[in-house]
Amino acid sequence: MRVLTNINSLNQLLENCRVSNKSIGFVPTMGALHEGHLSLVKLAHKDCDIVVCSIFINPTQFNDSNDLENYPITIEEDIKLLEEQSCDILFLPNVTEMYPQGLNTKQYQLNGIDKVLEGRKRPGHFDGVCTIVHRLFSIVKPNTAYFGEKDFQQVAVIRQMVNSLSLTVQIKTGETIREKDGLAKSSRNTLLSVSQRQKATYVYASLQKIKSLYGKVDCTQLKEMIKDDFNQVQDMQLDYVEIVNPHSLRPLKGKGIKEEAVALMAVFLGKVRLIDNLSLND
Ligand code: PAF
Repeated sequence: MRVLTNINSLNQLLENCRVSNKSIGFVPTMGALHEGHLSLVKLAHKDCDIVVCSIFINPTQFNDSNDLENYPITIEEDIKLLEEQSCDILFLPNVTEMYPQGLNTKQYQLNGIDKVLEGRKRPGHFDGVCTIVHRLFSIVKPNTAYFGEKDFQQVAVIRQMVNSLSLTVQIKTGETIREKDGLAKSSRNTLLSVSQRQKATYVYASLQKIKSLYGKVDCTQLKEMIKDDFNQVQDMQLDYVEIVNPHSLRPLKGKGIKEEAVALMAVFLGKVRLIDNLSLND
């Protein structure tokens, strides 16, 4: 695997791939890699000739400086894992390489889907995500880029950005990889204490509870039930629970029978914030 920190050398290498008509699959990450990321690398290998992964902890998407400071960094281990997956190129830029003009974000036409759920709780988050993903796309120029379904809204926002800018990159997703007890794999899981890790299983259990009652209980009532459940759990705060249309992210009302739906939640365990989601239809 070639590890490159500089845009010019990456361009040169990728230009050689493009002239020899090799397709490029791209997996952008912030490192602290786990099976979720590696499953995306595997998907990219199935579709594309060359697999590029990036590791860059993007400061502009963190609305909480404490979250940025504590974000796990495991570069040596990440490189090993990517080599095991036969990743071809790792792009590992620093902040100046990615933000030569300073930490500014751009504004994108996202039809408001960036203003709900995560966007409402983390103002500016999706401006930061779109700015860096757009910049990475313009550097790597991938045929296909891969994102995890755990970040459900992020995928919707990136698809919207790609459409509104008429970018040619194809967006594909990989399903959420879970621990045996259902907890969605996340880089932030490593920050949980033993007791927080035990409590974190409530997240997926709650999503499953929503799924089992969806169509039988009114959506508003269902969300209240989950809020009540979380009020009983110590040292864990529900940030939000929502049941929305998966395309518009519009909240569903009533029993929502026959409507496409996804349940999404965010919780705090101490300072660690976890998100997860579950389709309510299949
Ligand atoms: O999902 C992530 O890890 C990040 O939001 C991404 C897409 C790499 C952009 O920084």
